[in-house]
Amino acid sequence: MTALEANFQALFGHKAEVLGQAPGRVNLIGEHIDYSEGFVLPFAIADRTSAVIARNNDGLVRIASQQRRNSIFTIDIIDVKPGSSGEWEKYVLGVIWSLGITNGVDILVDGHVPAGAGLSSSAALECSVAMGLNTLFNLGFSLEELARATQKAENDYVGMPCGIMDQSVSLMAKAGSALLLDCRDLSTESVPFDVAAAGLELLIIDTQAHHALVDGGYAERRASCESVVAKFGISSMRHLTMQVLNERKSEISQSEYLRARHAVSEIQRVKDAVAALRNNDFIELGKLINQSHISLRDDYTVSCIELDIAVDASLAAGALGSRMVGGGFGGSAIALIKVDDIESIKDAIRSAYAAKGFKAPRFFTSLPSAGAEAHRTH
Ligand code: GLA
Repeated sequence: MTALEANFQALFGHKAEVLGQAPGRVNLIGEHIDYSEGFVLPFAIADRTSAVIARNNDGLVRIASQQRRNSIFTIDIIDVKPGSSGEWEKYVLGVIWSLGITNGVDILVDGHVPAGAGLSSSAALECSVAMGLNTLFNLGFSLEELARATQKAENDYVGMPCGIMDQSVSLMAKAGSALLLDCRDLSTESVPFDVAAAGLELLIIDTQAHHALVDGGYAERRASCESVVAKFGISSMRHLTMQVLNERKSEISQSEYLRARHAVSEIQRVKDAVAALRNNDFIELGKLINQSHISLRDDYTVSCIELDIAVDASLAAGALGSRMVGGGFGGSAIALIKVDDIESIKDAIRSAYAAKGFKAPRFFTSLPSAGAEAHRTH
């Protein structure tokens, strides 16, 4: 029995039945286009969240966390519906609700994806629970169905209008590869991402900044894209070209034009990045990563000063490419760097942050790792 399973038994007085595990992610390129039926190229990081789960006969959902072990959140299973109580537990309750579970369950979560760093700790939590429940109740859902169910949990239960990228990559990632995901039908292709063989490393820089705009700003950007699509009478940004956008510019507002320009150009950059990776052309990949950042900063306006300083400092210190990742307004940036430059680039970013009086950044690196899994524990 693992330590986590032993803790489960000590806490709930019976044995765990399943273990689900799911990773966080970084996104190489393809930002803010998952909800526009675009293409994205994320990979799973090594850090994972685990959930051990068993049925109970009390008709209750009990949720505990290895990180806060002295409290157990308890709710009647019939009260598990949007608007219920709960804080972080809502990510778990949302999955129980969207999968249609009606039996009581006890759940102990062990989260190892840094929270608040823009590395999708929430998707890791949702997907670990979804994988565990799928196994526990023999639900037989495919990974695509689990991705849709976990996105629904976050959209309709937690109230965050996220796209489908984070949950999909957490569920479907393959070790050693980035995942080219078509966000319309969730079809995937593995794109080998062997930075180490090229003497490179992907540095993840957690700015430790979290701006209040995070939720409203995300929803506002998404609404702009939906408004352009409605005005143009198309089904998604995927069907827009730069030529049509420019010809019909007068039909939309200036800010809608800029948001659409990001979406159209970013979808193309993802395709170009896949071609660059297939040619082992990391110089070209670096350029595309830089263009993505400029577009997110200037057209989509979801960057912030801490992200821009991290990007500028890493480029000035020799990175091949650098950009913000995830929703923006804080969180993390990535920098594609030569392995030998790692310490000097970290120092350059630390000094730039100190000069501005910002909180010190945190650094991570991770190779592309495997997606979620689940198995019975006895
Ligand atoms: C957040 C959302 C994703 C995606 C990114 C931006 O991580 O959860 O669905 O929209 O922002 O690319």
